[in-house]
Amino acid sequence: MRSRGRTRTNRLSPARRFRQRPLWAVLALVMGCGVLYGVDRWQSADAAAPKADAPAFQAHATIHELMEHMVDPAADGVWDAVAVISNEAGVEKRQPRTPEEWQAVRAHAMMLLEAMNLLLIEGRRVAAPGAEAHFGEHPPAQIEAMIKENRPAFIGFTEGVRQTTLQALAAIDKQDVQGLVVAGGHLDEACEACHISFWYSIPATLPKAAK
Ligand code: HEC
Repeated sequence: MRSRGRTRTNRLSPARRFRQRPLWAVLALVMGCGVLYGVDRWQSADAAAPKADAPAFQAHATIHELMEHMVDPAADGVWDAVAVISNEAGVEKRQPRTPEEWQAVRAHAMMLLEAMNLLLIEGRRVAAPGAEAHFGEHPPAQIEAMIKENRPAFIGFTEGVRQTTLQALAAIDKQDVQGLVVAGGHLDEACEACHISFWYSIPATLPKAAK
């Protein structure tokens, strides 16, 4: 009798089974809702997913804004980290000394590297509509046309900044101050190479030297 009784407790009497049914029903309902919710989210995520022919990246800032807010401050962070300043107080050799100072110049180099990727996004405007060129600069609309026509050259100039910044990064990681000074010089040339081709109009508009 005892053993039978024990087996009985392992099975559910019809009454207990009935009493437990609402629990299963509720569980099934909750799980079902969960699945439906998941499917729904998956479907809406699918609906929001970019179409195959949509561009993978969206440009928001103009090239002008990227230069002003990212490229120039990042390059300054690399250049200004090392300097020899001589004045009436004597000669100051400025260089990163603490790990934090080396980390700061490294962060600027990193930002500069990644900013070059942003310049490669197609369709980025050069400047806000209506922006005017200063004396000696091509108007933004003309720069846009020039970039369109000479895209490989434009990309090549970003590569110049990338390579010289990688040189700076290698010097930073070796805490090589002299190497950082040298790389900084190359970096400056790399910036100007693009500016001379795509931004400054002066060389093209100078009167031809008399022969
Ligand atoms: C691939 C081409 C390219 C490279 C590389 C490049 N620039 Fe520029 N930069 C431009 C163009 C184009 C403009 C002109 C945008 C405009 O019309 O305002 C510009 C404008 C600027 C401006 C003027 C923005 C303002 O506030 O008036 C600064 C500053 C500048 N660049 C700094 C740099 C520095 C520093 C580097 C190198 C670390 C660099 N650029 C590398 C293309 C480049």
